[in-house]
Amino acid sequence: MLNLVLFGPPGAGKGTQATYLAKAYQLIHLSTGEILREQIAAGTEIGLLVKDTIQRGELVPDATVIDLIQDKLDKNPEAKGFLFDGFPRTVPQAEALDVLLVHYGRSVSAMLSLEVEKKELMARLMSRGTTSGRIDDADLAVIENRIQVYNDKTAPLIQYYSKAGKYEAINGVGTVQEITDRLRFYIDKLPLNKKSR
Ligand code: AP5
Ligand code: MG
Repeated sequence: MLNLVLFGPPGAGKGTQATYLAKAYQLIHLSTGEILREQIAAGTEIGLLVKDTIQRGELVPDATVIDLIQDKLDKNPEAKGFLFDGFPRTVPQAEALDVLLVHYGRSVSAMLSLEVEKKELMARLMSRGTTSGRIDDADLAVIENRIQVYNDKTAPLIQYYSKAGKYEAINGVGTVQEITDRLRFYIDKLPLNKKSR
């Protein structure tokens, strides 16, 4: 069974690719960014707590996103697998995910990291900002900060998954279809043994 972490900086194409991969491999797509935006839109207590943080391009507390992920895992015990998008984003989140998955008899199969350079990320996000309505896409300084936060707090996860032998870098520049093909080429080579359910 597949449990994939789709990784990469803001604008790398995680959400775009997750849509295709979730369908192709029948995985449940869990984007913490999407879940948090739903909470904001619904005006929940969590939404109210995280709105300012997201608007500044900072990370919300680890405990908040870990609880949200745990809730999704609890609600989907029969899932064939999960596709994590934008989670984990810190080493404590990665450690918590490992513990949670063990509880469900699963583990991370691979961490697929979409590599895109900053100039292209900025261009993609500024372009999307004209139509997305996302509170963190509207301001150039916030987009810059999101990329900086990724470099400072999230990029260290590359080492975490490298050590576990689960890190794979994928060129994230090209057409959407080309990148899907690159990801699928790698996923199709993964051993689907019991240990990496
Ligand atoms: P989140 O929603 O995860 O946003 P992000 O990581 O900043 O990334 P994006 O969703 O902007 O980009 P993406 O990689 O999904 O790319 P996409 O496919 O959209 O997080 C938002 C915020 O929530 C965080 O800043 C934080 O505050 C909070 N948060 C979320 N998770 C958290 C966590 N675990 N811990 C703490 N805080 C958390 O593509 C981008 C654009 O490029 C689109 O317009 C797309 O059409 C275009 N595009 C895609 N592919 C291509 C291509 N191949 N060529 C050209 N354009 C392309
Ligand atoms: Mg996204």
